[in-house]
Amino acid sequence: MIECRICGGLVEEFLDLGRQPLSDAFLRPADVDAEFFYRLAVGRCASCTMVQLTEEVPRERMFHEGYPYHSSGSSVMREHFTRTALSLVETELTAADPFFVEIGCNDGVLLRTVAEAGIRHLGFEPSGGVAALAREQGVRVRGDFFEESTAVAVRETEGPADVIYSANTICHIPYMDSLLRGVDALLSPGGVFVFEDPYLGDIIEKTSFDQIYDEHFYLFSVRSVQAMAERFGFELVDVRRLPVHGGEVRYTLARAGARRPAPSVARLLDRERVQGLTEPETLRGFASSVTRIRDDLVGLLRSLRDDGRTVVGYGATAKSATVTNFCGIGPDLVSFVCDTTPAKQNRLTPGMHIPVRPPDAFAAADPDYALLFAWNHAEEIMAKEQWFRAAGGRWILYVPDVRVL
Ligand code: SAM
Ligand code: TMP
Ligand code: ZN
Repeated sequence: MIECRICGGLVEEFLDLGRQPLSDAFLRPADVDAEFFYRLAVGRCASCTMVQLTEEVPRERMFHEGYPYHSSGSSVMREHFTRTALSLVETELTAADPFFVEIGCNDGVLLRTVAEAGIRHLGFEPSGGVAALAREQGVRVRGDFFEESTAVAVRETEGPADVIYSANTICHIPYMDSLLRGVDALLSPGGVFVFEDPYLGDIIEKTSFDQIYDEHFYLFSVRSVQAMAERFGFELVDVRRLPVHGGEVRYTLARAGARRPAPSVARLLDRERVQGLTEPETLRGFASSVTRIRDDLVGLLRSLRDDGRTVVGYGATAKSATVTNFCGIGPDLVSFVCDTTPAKQNRLTPGMHIPVRPPDAFAAADPDYALLFAWNHAEEIMAKEQWFRAAGGRWILYVPDVRVL
């Protein structure tokens, strides 16, 4: 029996994505034999409805000196984080000498704007390589995992935080009890804990099963986050859907009773209820759509290969580890994947060992088809690669279903 990491209830598995590698472990040929695998399956808590992985990968295996993901790699995301920072500065950081804390600040993409506004701030970032990039941007970084003990230490030396903010990190943290006790210790009485992560509603609507991988331990819904907040003495006071990363929600938590909840909370909760978002039948239906997408995608790639067409991958995303390993897509079907991230280039993708090349390899290869693994950045990528379609190339997408554009 698997116990819910939030409430201890029974977690019922609804999707098994099989044996999977670490999604961000891009390999040198010499590393291939020692590759780490785990079983990727996802379930729903029968008590609090939280959707979560059934197996936890130790955090040090994922987040370390060589963690390759750079948040600044997308211009759309850079703009998103600049706007988010400016809006928090204007609305929440107006007291004298406010203090802003970010959990998972990565390369400083958001925190640099807060620092430039002259606001006292601190980023928690355990992955040394990206933390160093953040420091080069002029932001203050503590090279630790955020958890109860490290949060308490910061509270003691720096005082309470007016805003604790986090993007694409809270859903990565299985140890929610320690995390939320840490937020409780560090947050000022009237402060807010704001976090944004992929939304279960979008994942179900788009069948974006590639949002499920080792780092994405939780798939949040408004219902499950509200229950989680209440369990730890907080209240969900605002929610806002965001278009980034294929669909996210920004949740705002305050101490229970400290703020009046915005109407958006009840609205989105109602919508989830009407959709049956967290009901077992909905999740089982999602699981069967995943199998259909796998069969369609593999069928298409095999027929293109048999017709002698060339196919390359675009964007060596963490998400693509789930797709390639679940579908069995290797270098025979996708000859290489291009990606702008230096730490991924000239390595092999996790599990399926497809070579990763810099973006100029894409134009040089001039392939017949490009499988868009970074579909969440489709607009940005298609805009900069307009030549590809103009030259007769075609994009392959698999979210929300398999299609050729
Ligand atoms: N906030 C950035 C963004 O939205 O692009 C980075 C997201 S990245 C997917 C997740 C980051 O969280 C990684 O840089 C990782 O090192 C960091 N992280 C993981 N666990 C953490 C924890 N307990 N405390 C602080 N950061 C953590
Ligand atoms: P993400 O979906 O987790 O943000 O990862 C996107 C990956 O795609 C990351 O490795 C960077 C890469 N990428 C490109 O190669 N070209 C681009 O134009 C963009 C936006 C991302
Ligand atoms: Zn639960």
